[in-house]
Amino acid sequence: MTPSGPDAIPATTGEPSPVVVIQGLSKSFGPRPILQGLDLTVPPGQSLALIGANGTGKSTLLRMIVRLAEADAGRISVLGETVGDLRGAALKRFRARIGVVFQKHNLVARLSALSNVVHGVQSRRSGPRTWAQSLATAEVREEAMACLEAVGLSDKALQRADSLSGGQSQRVAIARMLMQRPELVLADEPDASLDPRAGREIMELLFRLTRDKGLSLIFVSHHMAHALRFADRIVGLGQGGSGAVVAFDRPALHCNESELAAFFEDADGTSEGRVQAALPVEALT
Ligand SMILES: Nc1ncnc2c1ncn2[C@@H]1O[C@H](COP(=O)(O)OP(=O)(O)OP(=O)(O)O)[C@@H](O)[C@H]1O
Ligand SMILES: [Mg+2]
Repeated sequence: MTPSGPDAIPATTGEPSPVVVIQGLSKSFGPRPILQGLDLTVPPGQSLALIGANGTGKSTLLRMIVRLAEADAGRISVLGETVGDLRGAALKRFRARIGVVFQKHNLVARLSALSNVVHGVQSRRSGPRTWAQSLATAEVREEAMACLEAVGLSDKALQRADSLSGGQSQRVAIARMLMQRPELVLADEPDASLDPRAGREIMELLFRLTRDKGLSLIFVSHHMAHALRFADRIVGLGQGGSGAVVAFDRPALHCNESELAAFFEDADGTSEGRVQAALPVEALT
């Protein structure tokens, strides 16, 4: 019999293995339920926009994928690993396979752009002498330069991080993440805190770099134009009975701005989502 459903074995069906499989995920903070029985499967190479009102649990969900937050119930499988089972060195190795970009880029202010990018190699290596060795290795510096070039910043390699603009700093953070040679990329509002053009360019960059390498990208954005333009699929978190569930799940090609605006209105009735969703796509092109 051919297996079917979420437990189907990809090798048997010929389907490529999903990169992320989330089943029945629940999470509360104290008495407050945040996520409730959430299911989500992400196939390889997909760009997925995660949308939803403030406080619905989008960042918490991304954090749980790399086990920076613990699930109360349910199962998360990422890159073939059951995340909840990972401990110590295995967890560290697992995290090194996932590139994460945050709204706040967390560069080391007094170091050059290049040295910040070199830092990215640390997570894919281990051992007490790694940092000193990394600095000394011409090969690593060459790779870091190539990563800076990939984000269009090779001319800023020796500039201190604290002298870069917000958009340039986010590019350095992306170059540092590339240095990890990630197998999956998560980005939590990488386009926030940037002007419209810089925000769009950062999204374009993340989309292109992940697409070129065939990597899945899961990004959170409050800019509906970015969700429509840079995602294959748009998933919206919205309130279920008790905590958020996947309340919207559509191919981006089959979505439009008014549907997304309606999702925000239905989900929580706040004006914030409506304002963001009302941004015309053309205004950002
Ligand atoms: N460590 C924590 N301890 C207690 N509550 C938390 C913690 N982290 C998040 N929360 C709460 O969980 C809820 C979901 O937070 P989360 O940051 O995941 O939302 P979000 O969807 O990313 O929101 P936003 O769009 O504003 O970024 C919020 O009510 C938040 O206050
Ligand atoms: Mg958030």
